[in-house]
Amino acid sequence: MDRIRIRGGNRLNGTINISGAKNAALPLMIVSLLTPETLTLNNVPRLADVRLLQRILQNHGVDIMIAGKRPGQNGQSGDVKQLSARTIADTTAPYELVSKMRASFWVLGPLLARCGEAKVSLPGGCAIGTRPVDMHLQAMEKLGAEIAIEAGYVVAKARNGLRGNRIVFDKVSVGATHAALMAAVLAQGETVIENAAREPEIGDVAQCLVKMGARIDGIHSPTLRISGVTSLHGAEHTVIADRIETGTYAMCAGMTGGDVMLRGARSDTLGSVIDVMRKAGIAVDETNEGLRVQRNGRALEPVSVATAPFPGFPTDCQAQLMALMTMADGTSTIRETIFENRFMHVQELARLGADIHLNGDTAEVRGVRKLTGAPVMATDLRASVSLVIAALAAEGETMLNRVYHLDRGFETLEDKLAACGADVARLSGN
Ligand code: UD1
Repeated sequence: MDRIRIRGGNRLNGTINISGAKNAALPLMIVSLLTPETLTLNNVPRLADVRLLQRILQNHGVDIMIAGKRPGQNGQSGDVKQLSARTIADTTAPYELVSKMRASFWVLGPLLARCGEAKVSLPGGCAIGTRPVDMHLQAMEKLGAEIAIEAGYVVAKARNGLRGNRIVFDKVSVGATHAALMAAVLAQGETVIENAAREPEIGDVAQCLVKMGARIDGIHSPTLRISGVTSLHGAEHTVIADRIETGTYAMCAGMTGGDVMLRGARSDTLGSVIDVMRKAGIAVDETNEGLRVQRNGRALEPVSVATAPFPGFPTDCQAQLMALMTMADGTSTIRETIFENRFMHVQELARLGADIHLNGDTAEVRGVRKLTGAPVMATDLRASVSLVIAALAAEGETMLNRVYHLDRGFETLEDKLAACGADVARLSGN
């Protein structure tokens, strides 16, 4: 297993190209199941989760071609992927694959919509919480599917096709909104999705579906209105910039007191994170190239933040903010309202000298003057990158183990940081 070694203390100065968003690329790839024609996706990040989803889609019969671009070309460094689901060879998504990545469960909606049946393994638990799929199943039932749970699998059938309906979600779910949207585009008649998630990645998927011939009103709003069509055609779409990666590198720059240009970053998807960074004393300026993040000599101010669905502060940046606040000039409070167990990073940050107290869903982070490098363990994707942020400012050497968590969601992290002056290296497991 690979490890990442970081020797802290260097300021970050330079430019980082922001990759395509993982959380948009995954559902966009799944959208390919909805049409027999070719869907071309540009700016797809090179990530372990993307490779895993590729295997899952190939199992359903999707033919996938990849053509790369050089880093920096057109400001984008991702792959161009062409996905063609001419026929669906298999409507089963097996446990061995789905259990490795939750988002693969989202194939349920498109398979049902296109084939009238699907058998998809329940995803199981994960490190950040129980993460049920009840809302996904309710949405499919509203659209006329019959659902049974058999031996750990969701077996869904809609013999006469899906029918439009009104779907009102009790709470905001990104995945359930994706599922309902992807199924409704091919359902007969009108579907209204209320209390839909408004995360920018959902807007990106909806815009791609529109290019493919779907009829969707209210994109980016909490009410999506869909008029079902009988078929979708091929299209070309560019994956939006990753706002979580952007927020993460912004915090790296803030933590080390550097000056970094985040090329290709979009401020319109990152308002709440930018507000919090500014409150913390970090300058964030929008330029033609992207976002420039600087903290030259100013102290880090403590902040009080609660995570919330978009446009609130993203849970996917909570761990990173906590790492940043470990060295603030005072006490911060960070409340996690989306996932009940998303504090696995607290104990690892403590190994570096952080002073954090947990009380239910709230962490009180008392700023310390210094962190010290230590061996630490990555527990999940965002938690592991919070350890990188802390390590960049810690005295001495930090060895981050279980790097595969990072590789799920951050493309060439060590190269991007090293190019800005960080002392970071990947040590191969063998
Ligand atoms: C997606 C993101 C993940 C992000 C999360 C919240 C992707 C690939 N993943 O995950 O990075 O952290 O949104 O922004 O885009 N819930 C239910 N029943 C359901 C579905 C969800 O109770 O059927 C609950 C969850 O347990 C959680 C909350 O709803 O408490 C929000 O989860 P959801 O938005 O669905 O997260 P994901 O789509 O899994």
